[in-house]
Amino acid sequence: MGQIQHRDHFHGSDLEKIEQIYGIRKEEIISFSANVNPLGISSKLRQGLAEHVDAITSYPDREYTSLRRCIGQYLTCDMEQIVVGNGSTELISLFIDFIHPKRALILGPTYSEYERSVGLSGGNSHYYPLHAKEGFTLHTEDLCAKLSEDYQLLILCNPNNPTSTLIPRQQMRRILDTCKMLGIYVLVDETYIEFTRDVGASSSIPLTRDYNNLIVLRGTSKFFAAPGLRLGYAVLSNPDIISTVRRVKNPWMINALADVAGQLMFTDEDYKTKTRRLILSERERLYHLFLSSDRFKPYDPQANFMLLRIEDPSINAADLFDLCIRQKMMIRDCSTFPFLSDRYIRFCFMKPEDNDRLMNLLLS
Ligand SMILES: Cc1ncc(COP(=O)(O)O)c(C=O)c1O
Repeated sequence: MGQIQHRDHFHGSDLEKIEQIYGIRKEEIISFSANVNPLGISSKLRQGLAEHVDAITSYPDREYTSLRRCIGQYLTCDMEQIVVGNGSTELISLFIDFIHPKRALILGPTYSEYERSVGLSGGNSHYYPLHAKEGFTLHTEDLCAKLSEDYQLLILCNPNNPTSTLIPRQQMRRILDTCKMLGIYVLVDETYIEFTRDVGASSSIPLTRDYNNLIVLRGTSKFFAAPGLRLGYAVLSNPDIISTVRRVKNPWMINALADVAGQLMFTDEDYKTKTRRLILSERERLYHLFLSSDRFKPYDPQANFMLLRIEDPSINAADLFDLCIRQKMMIRDCSTFPFLSDRYIRFCFMKPEDNDRLMNLLLS
């Protein structure tokens, strides 16, 4: 087994790199770092996709009408409000390119793709820091006081990766009111929202009807366990943005199989219920177990993953990564996130027996 350099950092999808360095076959690794639903894809999707494989013999519908109708039914919103894309990643850059902000404000620590996309579109990112002493929750009034006409875009990840904190809808309204007054667009990434206790109450999608400066992004990679499918969607109500984006985007942003898959997965009620039941109970169980340990401080998780601060000064995030990967469990060393350090790790909730194995290792 190779020795890891502590300057190496791995992302949830870096299994091939791990395979090379540690000599562990990637199929044997339990990924606690990819934040993907441990149940795998829905059985309805597995069966249906195989039956519809001939879909690839035709070009997909350029308007993705049936798919957008299914997504509209899933979200209880008008299909005209929906734009589909190649994962939420493509939509992040598509909308950032459209808004073309000179200055964007991002709540940090957060997912790195926002800063990268703002930079690629020629703008500058500024961070509004969330603080460990406040459990990384947002002080809405303070954020609103710091917003100004100098920003063209505010980016919020809700719930946020890696802190697993949620901005409730009332606070979101307050932020949207302020941004609307100042002429700031708001991009809300809801990649993890379906894992929250009450998605109906926490999602900002209903707010798109009231705020034409709001764009909500979602994907199927995490909750529906389909990161290889590359299916994401945006919900917004501003007709000018919708028509411009539809005009400038590549006509077939998603392939025919993703088009079919999307029409199958959103209606698998049994799968959605099982997923929510598993994540909610494991989240509760693991949070309380880590709360009673003095080696870690867990931050109250609202998504399917939890951020931990390492309280034991004799170990750091790279040591824990190394310890876990040798047992074929991959966690996220959070030292590369802005505002975090080598005192932080993140892991997602997997099946109970796998979670037990990780917990025993971290807490023993
Ligand atoms: C907050 C957040 N948004 C978006 C993505 C990427 O999602 P997709 O696979 O839909 O492009 C990730 C992946 O880790 C993420 O953590």
